[in-house]
Amino acid sequence: ISQQVTTKPRVIVVGAGLAGCYLAAQLQTKCQVIMVTKGTRAQSNSMLAQGGIAVALDPGDSPQQHEQDTLAAGDYHNRKAAVAQLVSDGPIEVRQLIKNGMQFDQTASGELAFGLEGAHQRPRVVHADGDQTGAAVTSFVQGQLTTAIQWREETAVVRLCQREGRCVGVLTRDQAGALTRINGDAVVLATGGLGNLYDFTTNDATVTGDGMALALRAGVTLTDMAFVQFHPTLLSLQGKCYGLITEAIRGAGAVLVDEVGTRIMAQVPQQDLAPRDVVARQLTVWRAQGHQTFLDISAVADFEQHFIGVTANLDAHQVPFRQTKLIPIQPGAHFMMGGIQADLTGRTSMAGLWAIGEVACNGVHGANRLASNSLLDCLVSGAKAAQDIERTCQEQGRVGRAASVTDATTASAAGAANQRPIVKLPSLAQLQEQAWTNLGIERTHHQLHGFLRWLDQFNAETVAPEDLSPAQNTIANLCLCARAIAQAALAQRQSLGAHHWKEARKDESCAS
Ligand code: SIN
Repeated sequence: ISQQVTTKPRVIVVGAGLAGCYLAAQLQTKCQVIMVTKGTRAQSNSMLAQGGIAVALDPGDSPQQHEQDTLAAGDYHNRKAAVAQLVSDGPIEVRQLIKNGMQFDQTASGELAFGLEGAHQRPRVVHADGDQTGAAVTSFVQGQLTTAIQWREETAVVRLCQREGRCVGVLTRDQAGALTRINGDAVVLATGGLGNLYDFTTNDATVTGDGMALALRAGVTLTDMAFVQFHPTLLSLQGKCYGLITEAIRGAGAVLVDEVGTRIMAQVPQQDLAPRDVVARQLTVWRAQGHQTFLDISAVADFEQHFIGVTANLDAHQVPFRQTKLIPIQPGAHFMMGGIQADLTGRTSMAGLWAIGEVACNGVHGANRLASNSLLDCLVSGAKAAQDIERTCQEQGRVGRAASVTDATTASAAGAANQRPIVKLPSLAQLQEQAWTNLGIERTHHQLHGFLRWLDQFNAETVAPEDLSPAQNTIANLCLCARAIAQAALAQRQSLGAHHWKEARKDESCAS
């Protein structure tokens, strides 16, 4: 048995969301899979996803219609081959999940129930437990993982290990501070996005741009970093946000209104079901004029039955929606369209390193992701990368190579506090405030240049991550991502999708 184990390629998966777990499920009998995650396996953006999975499974629907909607929402900045792969392979992966026992919500007659969301021509979104699809699907896939998978939870990856330009493993730090090098024949980054760069976010607290920062430090190519998606509807109370209010509620008939009941989206094409970037901008304009913004749910039938998770959140915050039929909302950071440049199989610019799910940018989402395409991309990109890793390891004779090298714990209690070099970093609150103001829904050249100058006073890029405390490392990672967003935004000549110039380029000359 031990011989069998050591002759399998070793695959290190960083991140415990749907993309990483789905890939692990495909590879678990063929490879030795090690899952490394900074938090626990219950913590990821996938677990928090509400609306569902967009997939052309209704007999009246087609991958071509799904493709058209994905491209239009993405402002045609998408990579067409990636979209074609998503919409054609998506139904195969979702059918496979159902065959394996995953239960999506059904109509009274026992058919799959399809929800409607913004920028979809038709109801296309399968969902589970009402609005708790992400938790249902991710838990289901995690339940398919066998004990052959080795989990390293509460373990952060602080560096990608390289040999001759190839990724050959990761350096991790556990809760006690011990640094351990884990060797791998393949390393897969599936760490999600960077929502916590912003104070107003739907993201899990563990989602802090770590994968993108690891890639940046290792010289791996990132792309499309200008495109951060702001979801229009986060629960907003006394200037703070308390999680997502799913777009599926607007699909079920809710509308956006101000404090006197004026319809905010009335004059915009597609109205309340316009693409997310359009709705978030319209809300921003309205709020800048001093209005309050609400989701009016009067027209939604059986709200509490369909939106169980949202109802629980509203009750937890004592929102009197049953009486008022209003939910106070505002936009907030939700999803990163850009990320580590990846091909259709998740390969990155570094041999031995793959990237899947939100941390990756294979071009599928263009400049603005279509609602409920993210869980679908987790399944498709996870499956494609799994096939490629298996094939690559066989072709390159990497079978068992990493497992034969002893993993090394290189230090314990890395960098005791009194030995750490002097680091200069902003507080998380300062960084979030700056990011919201300067890297938000509307941008100006002047603000972006000012933000980069502000970042220059810190040493996030030069200090070694091994020398930072976990909290400092999180801030340093977010600083690296923030710089990449600002630089990519400045390179955009025109507004496109989620990147929007508030002013014409006339302010560029005074910004240097
Ligand atoms: C939502 O339920 O509104 C979010 C779904 C998504 O991010 O696509």
